[in-house]
Amino acid sequence: MARLEKTDVVSIDDLTLPEIERVFTLADEFAEALARGTSLTLANGLIMATLFYEPSTRTRLSFESAMHRLGGAVISSADMRASSAVKGESLADTVRIVSAYADLIVLRHPQDGAARVAAEYAPGPVLNAGDGSREHPTQTLCDLFILRRKKKKLKGLTVALCGDLKFGRTVHSLIYALARFGANIVAVPTSGMDVPAYVLERLAAERNYSFSTVTMDELKSLAGGLDALYLTPSAPHQMALFTGDLALGKVPAGEAPASLDAFYVTRLQKERMVGKEIKPGEYVRFDARALKTQRTQEAVVMHPLPRTDELAYELDTDPRAVYFEQAAVGVPVRMALVAWLIEQKHDRTDAKPAGQSIRFKAEPYPRCANSNCITRFEGPHLHPRFKLARTTDRHVLPLRCEYCERELNVEFVGHARSHRYYKYDENLYGYVRQWIEEPSLAVFETVKQAEEHGYEPYRRGPQREVMNADEIALAVESLADQIAADVSDLTNVYLIGVVSHGAVLATRVRDALEKKSGTRAPCAAVDVYRSQDAIGELDGGAPFGVEGRTIVIVDDVINSGWTVQRAMTMIWQYGRPAAVRLAVLIDRGHRAVPIRPNYVGKNIPTSPSERVQVRLAPSGHNGKPKAHDRAMIYSMVEPIKTAEQVK
Ligand code: NCD
Repeated sequence: MARLEKTDVVSIDDLTLPEIERVFTLADEFAEALARGTSLTLANGLIMATLFYEPSTRTRLSFESAMHRLGGAVISSADMRASSAVKGESLADTVRIVSAYADLIVLRHPQDGAARVAAEYAPGPVLNAGDGSREHPTQTLCDLFILRRKKKKLKGLTVALCGDLKFGRTVHSLIYALARFGANIVAVPTSGMDVPAYVLERLAAERNYSFSTVTMDELKSLAGGLDALYLTPSAPHQMALFTGDLALGKVPAGEAPASLDAFYVTRLQKERMVGKEIKPGEYVRFDARALKTQRTQEAVVMHPLPRTDELAYELDTDPRAVYFEQAAVGVPVRMALVAWLIEQKHDRTDAKPAGQSIRFKAEPYPRCANSNCITRFEGPHLHPRFKLARTTDRHVLPLRCEYCERELNVEFVGHARSHRYYKYDENLYGYVRQWIEEPSLAVFETVKQAEEHGYEPYRRGPQREVMNADEIALAVESLADQIAADVSDLTNVYLIGVVSHGAVLATRVRDALEKKSGTRAPCAAVDVYRSQDAIGELDGGAPFGVEGRTIVIVDDVINSGWTVQRAMTMIWQYGRPAAVRLAVLIDRGHRAVPIRPNYVGKNIPTSPSERVQVRLAPSGHNGKPKAHDRAMIYSMVEPIKTAEQVK
């Protein structure tokens, strides 16, 4: 029998305001009990498992300390790199197994949405101790608890959030909570580290809440006490920033300039930044000067810690610096959260309704566009799940990933029963809603993907043949000739075809090359729509390795170059090739990315309203023409104009 009700805290929004208040009441009691040195037995017989896939000091140790203080027991994997995760065990399996050993799981994970996955697969409660850059709800409980302790309230407070507001997960949970408690937020991001759109979108949609963003310089002016700068709550929960003379006219008479109640400073989340550098001088540096003005002298300075250079050590002795206390209350607050879990009864009525997710009946399942989403790592058992998001652009259908919350903008939609695809525009919205109900909605990243899954355009315009079987056979020969003339060491060549026609073409080019040179190159296929095991050998043999090799990527048609670019990214995950070349049957000369084919079978000028479709039979008849081979060009009919026309 489960000892605890299945109550997960994945987001701070999983707790209602009364529930948060209850946790705080309990935390006050536990803080007192700890101060008195009272021994507690509340969690006797319960076991907490802490699974940490990312480094942690405060969060893990305070959770474990809290459980011990409550008389419970802890089993811990402080470094999941020392667990079966390195053997490739999925998160889903891990939490299922661990649930047999413990009554609740505390999870920290580098991927966005990981805690949601754990909560879905674990039969017992899961507490999110930080998932990627998404949320860190228990840190927020500590943050709110200390704010309330210092300021005696939360409603109406003004909190400046400084630094990395993009990847700082503690900031995101804090924003959701401050919004609900009716506090004002001023965002002060380091340049390029703004609060992400999906967070703002969720605030606007669910809470009708927004806030102002000011630059570091504007904050300095504010902190420096320039009278021309006022921060004033204009509408409920909204900050307006007035500068210069305008301010005098705009600030309602009798309303004093607002003061700041707290600075929440954050560390640059270096580990979440790829290929981007922020120079030390560009990041926030917070020191005692900021607290010297009339409007900031009452402010407390908070930080989730660890700090790096953004917070001067000189502040540590200032009573307004509360970050060490903020870390210390981690124990009573997390004790309170566990005690609250123990209190839970089955009929938790005010939990958030789940809402309807879109069911996709068949491949291709849409994949989340966020490369750090847990759905891109977890494996095929976890189908990405999406809901409809709010429309902002008429030409894309916005879906929201239920795991990481990022938006996926879909350009091509299909109807799974009629196997027709459409370029999306808003006239289709009503139909899409209906297809979701049926359910028969399919979505595609590209026209090519739609076609490869057997979908036809909603209406196909006139078509004509651009290459027949003989021409294709000649083009294959020519590609092999071009490669042989260009590459000095054919024994080092590796052909990688883009699924599906590129892969067929690759084997045919490989056979032609073998006939000419006597060298049989290994051949593989890359599926650019998959994230795991995207590359597979085409004829067994040696394990796939690209290191030091000359790679020839083979595709049937190159348009924008987008597919090839994706293929390259995938190949580079397997090693560093000596050279990468590109062979295409048809080059349409249109480039969105700086990629140029080295070997071309035929050039056909690009046109936005025309598609080239290639049909190729597999290799195996010594390069003889295949009767069914052909390349067709057809014109695409404009997207649907009115809803009536669809019928
Ligand atoms: C934070 C985290 O891990 O997100 N630390 C914490 O839990 N106190 C903040 C950080 O690492 O910067």
